[in-house]
Amino acid sequence: MNVTPLIDPFARPITYLRVSVTDRCDFRCSYCMAEHMQFLPKRDLLTLEELDRMCSAFVGLGVRKLRITGGEPLARRDIMSFFRAVSRHLGEGLDELTLTTNGSQLRRFAAELADIGVRRVNVSLDTLDPEKFAKITRWGRLPQVLDGIAAAKDAGLRVKINAVALKGFNEDELFSLIDWCATEDHDLTFIEVMPMGDMGEADRRDQYWPLSDLRNRIAERYTVVDLAERTGGPARYVRLAENGQKIGFITPLTHNFCESCNRVRVTCTGELYMCLGQEDRADLRAPLRNSPDDTDLTEAIRAAIARKPKGHDFDYSRQKIAGQVSRHMSHTGG
Ligand code: GTP
Ligand code: 5AD
Ligand code: SF4
Repeated sequence: MNVTPLIDPFARPITYLRVSVTDRCDFRCSYCMAEHMQFLPKRDLLTLEELDRMCSAFVGLGVRKLRITGGEPLARRDIMSFFRAVSRHLGEGLDELTLTTNGSQLRRFAAELADIGVRRVNVSLDTLDPEKFAKITRWGRLPQVLDGIAAAKDAGLRVKINAVALKGFNEDELFSLIDWCATEDHDLTFIEVMPMGDMGEADRRDQYWPLSDLRNRIAERYTVVDLAERTGGPARYVRLAENGQKIGFITPLTHNFCESCNRVRVTCTGELYMCLGQEDRADLRAPLRNSPDDTDLTEAIRAAIARKPKGHDFDYSRQKIAGQVSRHMSHTGG
């Protein structure tokens, strides 16, 4: 079957879908959620069958990489049946099925994920200090996450640690994070904090630690070699010559990567967000529920891609933070 692939108005092929399967999470990371969140009523959520139908439609339209996010994706009941279902597309259009998780449930699910065909997982971990971890996640416990990461490694999954670079929070752990990842053989990616959610402006600006600065600090101790390799996401990678550690940089602020954007996001209620940093979205739940046939659904997807914006407008450099988006990161899953 020959289908026209998804190409946006800026000639970017859309081949990467990120799907948030729940807005709930067992943590409350301060840059991601408010402490007291109003979660969505269950009836608003796409069922696991609807999520599967939607992902399958995207794969039919040329999506090759599927990342499951949340909230915490492994917190959704029976999520493994969904993973198992969508894994049938691996090798049949889909190159990669993966997830971004806080790691708290990995001990329970790692072996099954590996069995299904997941090869790597991205685990959010901003600090190796148990007290700081408890503080930033509000509800998380570090030993549980480290145990989950160990389970993933034992199951043969490649682990990439995602650390949001936070000034005055994990600056002093730059080298301990690098050393730990080198010892454990995990990849490591740093992310610039984005102005999402209704956190105080002052806090956000105080927290912002540009990765250009972080990279310069690494270069004081290591030889930093740029790598050409890509994982299909926004990270740009380097290798440290001395210990072989691979490090990724996700720099929405200091170096905008939107021109090469290949991705869109769907929330757990079936809203398709064409850009993480913009409000425009399209409803896919109605076309999913109105007809057992996928014609309306694929039409809705195509119509949405046809208005994918050029990029986000995040900017901390002005008097007032620009381009801020009021929804929380947990809504669209990062
Ligand atoms: P791989 O490259 O496959 O390892 O994954 P990834 O970097 O695409 O996925 P991951 O979930 O680890 O993403 C890390 C974070 O990068 C996300 O949670 C976002 O914070 C940020 N990010 C990913 N895609 C975009 C994007 O399109 N725009 C912006 N501004 N940030 C993004
Ligand atoms: N800015 C940057 N990254 C964020 N994440 C959550 N909130 C933010 C934010 N405001 C990251 C998490 C996780 C990924 C899904 O998104 O740390 O690694
Ligand atoms: Fe949960 Fe992840 Fe958000 Fe933290 S960053 S509150 S772990 S969804």
